[in-house]
Amino acid sequence: MKVLVTGGGGFLGQAVCRLLTARGEHVSTLSRRRHPALDALGVVQHPADIRDPDGVRAAVAGCEAVVHCAALAGMWGPAHAYRSVNVAGTANLIDACLRAGVTRLVHTSSPSVVHDGGDLEGVDESAPYARRFLAHYPASKAIAERIVLAADSDRLATVALRPHLIWGPGDPHFLPRLVAQARRGRLVLPRAPGKRIDTVYVGNAAEAHVLALDALAPGTPAAGRAYFITQDEPITVAAWVNGLLGAAGLPPVTRHVPACVARMGAAAVEYGYWLARPRSQPPVTRIAAVQATTSHWFDISAARRDLGYVPRISTADGLARLAAHLSAHAGRPDDDRAGRPPVPPIQP
Ligand SMILES: NC(=O)c1ccc[n+]([C@@H]2O[C@H](COP(=O)([O-])OP(=O)(O)OC[C@H]3O[C@@H](n4cnc5c(N)ncnc54)[C@H](OP(=O)(O)O)[C@@H]3O)[C@@H](O)[C@H]2O)c1
Repeated sequence: MKVLVTGGGGFLGQAVCRLLTARGEHVSTLSRRRHPALDALGVVQHPADIRDPDGVRAAVAGCEAVVHCAALAGMWGPAHAYRSVNVAGTANLIDACLRAGVTRLVHTSSPSVVHDGGDLEGVDESAPYARRFLAHYPASKAIAERIVLAADSDRLATVALRPHLIWGPGDPHFLPRLVAQARRGRLVLPRAPGKRIDTVYVGNAAEAHVLALDALAPGTPAAGRAYFITQDEPITVAAWVNGLLGAAGLPPVTRHVPACVARMGAAAVEYGYWLARPRSQPPVTRIAAVQATTSHWFDISAARRDLGYVPRISTADGLARLAAHLSAHAGRPDDDRAGRPPVPPIQP
């Protein structure tokens, strides 16, 4: 099978590429930069911007299936940046798939598409899209998911996966920031008694994408549907954060503030950055404070039933793998974007 993975050099995309190449698929990727770790896997890299229709068409030509991981992630930046990459880029990809006769499109969405700031406890995919969003990223992901699912047809089967809070070896996002803040002694957790979240280990999230690819064809149960993908092990934010810190060889967070203080403080910091330093990402955002003080865990029965998804790597096993990875790399979290050497191969 010839599969294109957009964003194949990213955190999740690279783990998907590893699984696909390990089982002998012909894998190519689309992203703006070359990713040396993909060369080692024998992956063909198409340097293109997802916003450029011609570049996307060239990358999709000759492929049978597409896994769409590319996105502008993060919770800071102008709305148009999120819309152009996450919405217009996804529309470009669907158009290219239809022109090239691609029959399967697996889209990486996000559970944030249903999170409006309230508690989500064990909800399934019948939960409606949020009516208001606390950041441009989830708003853009919600539109992208809708257009992917609306594109499902006899010619092109589509499915959207909503992996929640991906973590593990190779994380260039949350873990490096968490570790940096912990080393500066700046970590404070909001008190959120009774609130639980779910997350997903990167290897499990990647496996869900491969399972979705296999389960997808026009008219199959997965076609035109969205699925939550998690560990199915709801835990407190403190347990998750302290687990990650422990894997990095750091002590747990001991300082706590009331939830309302965390939310008001984050709003004040965000407002200050918006006024004075709009190009810099604040150390804490409103959406992060809301996510840290609400429950958001999901019923993944549909993914188990339709995709055969099982979170094979437990949270405890994942943390052990992360600890081994970090200690093999001198305890430094991976971030090839910070001018460090390319991220070495990882075991999803
Ligand atoms: N990480 C999470 O916790 C999480 C949770 C839920 C959903 N997701 C979703 O999972 C997917 C992968 O996320 P990730 O954490 O792996 O993010 P990531 O590491 O930032 O990977 C995203 C990739 O997209 C590529 N990309 C970004 N803008 C592009 C553009 N304009 N044109 C072409 N390629 C572009 C980037 O490659 P280049 O820089 O080389 O272009 C990057 O490697 C995203 O769709 C994200 O929304 C992530």
